[in-house]
Amino acid sequence: MDTTKRSTFTGKLGFVLAAAGSAVGLGNIWRFPYLAAKYGGGIFLLVYIALSVTFGFSLMVAEIAIGRKTRKSPICAYRLLHRRFGFVGVLATVISLLILPYYAVVGGWIIRYSLNFLGGNFASPDYFSAYTGGFLQPFLWLLVFLAITTLIVLCGVQKGIERVSRFVMPLLIILMLFIVIYSLFAVEGATNGLIYYLKPDFSKFSIKTVVAALCQLFFSMSLGMGVMITFGSYMQRDVSIERSAHRIELFDSGIAILAGLMIVPACFAFSGGDPEALGAGPSLMFEVLPQIFSGMPAGRLIGGVFFLTVLLAALTSSISMMETVVSTLQDSRRLSRIYCCLPVLAFSILLGVIICLGFSHWKSFTPFGMPLPDAVDFVTNNVLLPIVALSTCIMLTRFVGLQTVTEEISLSGKFKGRALFSAVIRVLAPICLVVILLWAILGVVTPFELFQL
Ligand code: PHE
Repeated sequence: MDTTKRSTFTGKLGFVLAAAGSAVGLGNIWRFPYLAAKYGGGIFLLVYIALSVTFGFSLMVAEIAIGRKTRKSPICAYRLLHRRFGFVGVLATVISLLILPYYAVVGGWIIRYSLNFLGGNFASPDYFSAYTGGFLQPFLWLLVFLAITTLIVLCGVQKGIERVSRFVMPLLIILMLFIVIYSLFAVEGATNGLIYYLKPDFSKFSIKTVVAALCQLFFSMSLGMGVMITFGSYMQRDVSIERSAHRIELFDSGIAILAGLMIVPACFAFSGGDPEALGAGPSLMFEVLPQIFSGMPAGRLIGGVFFLTVLLAALTSSISMMETVVSTLQDSRRLSRIYCCLPVLAFSILLGVIICLGFSHWKSFTPFGMPLPDAVDFVTNNVLLPIVALSTCIMLTRFVGLQTVTEEISLSGKFKGRALFSAVIRVLAPICLVVILLWAILGVVTPFELFQL
């Protein structure tokens, strides 16, 4: 197998920091809490953790190993493993390309919120819908977010992400802990919300909980998009893939759970447990946090610093998405970095505009029976990602042989989770993935509530 020389991460921690920088982002802080609030609190949390240590862990280990074994970006990596599976790499890269604009729109909101707070403005809860209901402002901040992402990708990213993650992660954890403690003690009624968030209520369990948790896992752990393959291709052979995956998972789930603690109990308290407020979706964080900060001493400053930290975490993720696409273009077209970045930027602006319009002027346009931004989220998370992951499992078990990756994983020590890994890739993952796909299709072609996520 061709393993031409490729630049690598520095030291043992370099890979973990960069991969955790990609995994931890808006998915944890913005998306996880609104899903947890919507899908029953404690029961969602339980299902999520159970799936993260089995399904999430195994897929992550597989992707990193594919990257390190082939030392290639996704398309070439899949093609090298089996010539019929090159399309999986193409699909994975396309997903990164589709998610980036949506991600940048939310990143733009974060920039606006940090500036608001630092400039002395507490956004009122209604501010969010007024703000996203207009087109121009969100569009301008989307451009700023994309411009920063492109500039950093242009300058080469590995060292940059490592360095930023080194201080963003601890700062994020400290700030979040502080906000959690404050809101649990100072917001009246938050303890009831805490129970809602932590205590599983099995009557709220349904297949929908599992489907939502699985799709969130993909997004949050940056799986199925070629990101971990790209990062794996830069990983040194003496660094343990298994231990690194455990660490990334710990960071990723830990920060998601903390974000939920910060937002869900407070939302429950402010709304008295009203299901409509709990099901608010993308607006949840932007409506709940300003209410917490407005009652907090030095809340403006803390709010501002918090949103800035979230912005950095979002940037380390968006950079990894763009880097995956750019490195693929570079590998296959042999073009200079700038010629690879520009088309990606242009496409992101175009789709970003459409998504901004979906939140504002085109609100009534509902492909697949849902608002446009939800439709993009649905197509990528519920349809394309499961197809990539399912094809990866099939390729590994039927065409390449699981030992190709288990050997790579064992290069840096005994693979302790081997039995779990092979059970997940052979049985659990394919079942879960077929269920997600089935739900997605039935949700679109039938009117039954059971299939509507
Ligand atoms: N995992 C990132 C987050 O949770 C999002 C992301 C998805 C990053 C795909 C890279 C690739 O915010």
